[in-house]
Amino acid sequence: MRTPIVAPSLLAADFAEAGSALRTVEESGAPWIHLDVMDGRFVPNLTFGHKMVADLRKRSKLFFDAHLMTESPESLLDGFVDAGADAITFHIEACVHAHRLIERIRAAGLKAGISLVPSTPVSSITEALRSVDMVLVMTVNPGFGGQRLIPRCVDKIAEIRAFRDREGLSFDIAADGGVNQATAPGVVAAGADILVMGSAFFESTDPAALVRGISALAMPGS
Ligand code: DX5
Ligand code: ZN
Repeated sequence: MRTPIVAPSLLAADFAEAGSALRTVEESGAPWIHLDVMDGRFVPNLTFGHKMVADLRKRSKLFFDAHLMTESPESLLDGFVDAGADAITFHIEACVHAHRLIERIRAAGLKAGISLVPSTPVSSITEALRSVDMVLVMTVNPGFGGQRLIPRCVDKIAEIRAFRDREGLSFDIAADGGVNQATAPGVVAAGADILVMGSAFFESTDPAALVRGISALAMPGS
């Protein structure tokens, strides 16, 4: 049986204790860590770049899921490949030549993801969905952790899931933003395979129990 993957987001951790945050994720049993890269232009916030990812890479075998909330993701790609990311997700709103960038990410041996903000319709990524490994549906407006999930974005997950089933495609669907114990069941029922969790994970008093609970949610069609 397939179970949902929990991807804790480093954004909600204390950056001065990033190494210890990695250990918290490892000890929780979550197989992924989600790395939010923000450039202060595509989103009104700044986080970290290649060096942070490379330094974390030396300390962990977790699956590194880099989410580029940046302009010109194509110019940043090589740095994140060299830093040891396992997956790179960029935004359709930041890239005209999405197909080319997806091909470049995959040619480097990484999983390629496409993301869309709440105001972007699913129709804008239907071509990209034919070549990606993952789609990251923003369930809040990107830029900050700790926001409330926008219910309409869960409908987009269901729409993408229906498209995947209809077209016989196999990309994974991730939900990012406002996912917690209360909202996760609806997100998984809509068709998400991967749940990014920032504040819900790092504010939890028992992250391992949280991960176990989410991993036990029944996935439709599995
Ligand atoms: C938001 C980021 C998210 C963020 C989610 O712009 O892309 O990955 O960390 O945080 P929570 O889970 O707190 O909404
Ligand atoms: Zn993210």
